[in-house]
Amino acid sequence: MNADEIRQKFLDTAKEHGHVVIPRAKVVPENDNTTLFTGSGMQPLLKYLLGEPHPLGTRLADTQTCVRAQDINEVGDNRHTTFFEMLGNWSLGDYFKKEQITWFFNFLVDTVGLDPNRLYVTCFAGDPEHGIPRDDEAAAIWQQLFKERGIEAKTAEMRSEAAGGQRGMKEGERIFFYDGSKNWWSRNGGPSTTPMGDPCGPDSEVFYEFTHIDHDKKYGDKCHPNCDCGRYMEIGNQVFTQYKRTEGGFERLPKKNVDFGGGLERIAAAAINSPDVFKTSLFTPIIEKLQEISGKSYEDYTESMRVIADHLRAATFLAVDGVKPSNKQQGYVMRRLIRRAIRYAFDLGVEQNFMEEIVPVIADIYADAFPEVEEARDNVVAVLAKEEKAFRRTLRKGLREFDKVAGEGLTGTEIFTLYDTYGFPRELSIEEAEKRGIKVDDAWMDDFKSLMNRQRQMSQAAVKKF
Ligand code: ALA
Repeated sequence: MNADEIRQKFLDTAKEHGHVVIPRAKVVPENDNTTLFTGSGMQPLLKYLLGEPHPLGTRLADTQTCVRAQDINEVGDNRHTTFFEMLGNWSLGDYFKKEQITWFFNFLVDTVGLDPNRLYVTCFAGDPEHGIPRDDEAAAIWQQLFKERGIEAKTAEMRSEAAGGQRGMKEGERIFFYDGSKNWWSRNGGPSTTPMGDPCGPDSEVFYEFTHIDHDKKYGDKCHPNCDCGRYMEIGNQVFTQYKRTEGGFERLPKKNVDFGGGLERIAAAAINSPDVFKTSLFTPIIEKLQEISGKSYEDYTESMRVIADHLRAATFLAVDGVKPSNKQQGYVMRRLIRRAIRYAFDLGVEQNFMEEIVPVIADIYADAFPEVEEARDNVVAVLAKEEKAFRRTLRKGLREFDKVAGEGLTGTEIFTLYDTYGFPRELSIEEAEKRGIKVDDAWMDDFKSLMNRQRQMSQAAVKKF
């Protein structure tokens, strides 16, 4: 089953279970300036999860386009992306654990076709200090579901990620209890930092096992679901909001909520049993186009192609949602994404404009699922192409200049000059230096900042004078 089919089936199944399917919120939050981007499906629905009635009822579902710009430097491995879709469903004081866990498990196994033997789950281990019990209720539901498929599902106490790395997994174990750092949801971390008066609760995550990936000891002595070696990939999280923190402790809420979020790219990767999300149908047309225009193969230029595909997908949705490249806030991130994509295209030998070739491919991928992408198509291509034209001029000059000034090392003053005179971004100077093994002077940040400040003061003075 490909990603489009998974998305559609998820929404159809949610409807069958009485959910109203709501449109995605924009990737730039509306009426919320506390964060630059929508980073999860629940974010636009927070006020309803905190108690306000939703006009469309108590069962909602959607697919939410998300941007996590903090992951920009991680992109290049097989699963980090700055843009992704989160499939979501919510119970606002309606159904609870039994329905949620059963529906999700059946969806993964019967609809998507995942082998249940490859699924492992985590539940909350409890917090004796705060008097919160272990989530045996969720674990018992999981045990029953596995049993119905003829699979033994023993439970195991892992508590922390580090302890999990020491203990590892034993034969027959499938349900793992972790502490509040892993299996607790509040607006601010685990039980001890949950804000007073806030709803909160345990969560239960589902992991898919790639049996062809061997554990890497770099990540801990032994492997376990929350290990980062890549053998296990989280594909969904179910939050059960059942407590409220009060001065007297964690009280049970009369109206409990479910907040489910599952990464579409990751579920699609599990469906093809590939740990590489860039091999899913959400990426293959982009990678194929990159191979075609560069004449290079994905196998040889994996990292560059991943960065370009991810960044241009994110920039496309930012443009669809009305963002334009600029020097601040969301516009700055968008500019950075586009510029990095262009820089990585140089690695493929693509030095000519390529937005007009790639962006329509991205629009095609999403045209059916999100009609607004189709409507904005021409405008999006124009916005990205304009930024590309301006940046390519800058880049050519900047790279020439970089090679002239960067010898054994690179100072803050040199990085500033590249930026100030040639518009060559600071991040690119650092990346270029790293790529060539050039040492960046430790003091560069201070130098760069003070030169930036001086420049700002001078330009303000100039404005005042005239
Ligand atoms: N909101 C939950 C998450 O982001 C489902 O993991």
